[in-house]
Amino acid sequence: MMTMHRPSKLAHVVYRSRRFADMLAWYGTVFGARVQHQNPAMAFLAFDDEHHRFAFIDLSVIDPEGSDQAPKPWVGVDHLAWTYATLDDLFETYTRCKAQGIEPYWCVHHGLTISMYYADPDGNQMEFQVNAFDSDEACNAYIRGPAMDANPVGVEFDPEEWLAAVRDGGSLDDFRVRTVHEPASPIRGAISELL
Ligand SMILES: [Fe+2]
Repeated sequence: MMTMHRPSKLAHVVYRSRRFADMLAWYGTVFGARVQHQNPAMAFLAFDDEHHRFAFIDLSVIDPEGSDQAPKPWVGVDHLAWTYATLDDLFETYTRCKAQGIEPYWCVHHGLTISMYYADPDGNQMEFQVNAFDSDEACNAYIRGPAMDANPVGVEFDPEEWLAAVRDGGSLDDFRVRTVHEPASPIRGAISELL
């Protein structure tokens, strides 16, 4: 029998941009990404042991006469999701970025994940998340279970409220498994223009 070979992990994302310098700065701030290689048209950035996690193509070099004013094509990628190991890691990133003027446009407890959504200078959307359950088995049981039928989007939260609870002696992990399942959050981000 033939073996079905599947990818083992997501490796990198490549964006085309006319805000090249802004993008390098934003990914440097938010992800702590460093430039591994840069040439007049492209830059490759890494933030961990992988050789590159992002590359950016400078459209002002590749397509200097072009414009990004074309109507937005709705077909395509909506967002990419990046998992943090712990809620402390996620919230430290939130606090660090907020101090640099970078804030999430949507904070939602999906039930499955605690998620903060960010948009880069070009509006590319990404989700920074922590799984609500420790095991893959528990996460898979949740996504296949009735809670997803009842509220497939999630419940919004205010990260400042969670941080205030921590200052009062609580732990972020107190919020990790969602205990309140309504109100259902609207979907936020670019797609909300269509809804
Ligand atoms: Fe997602």
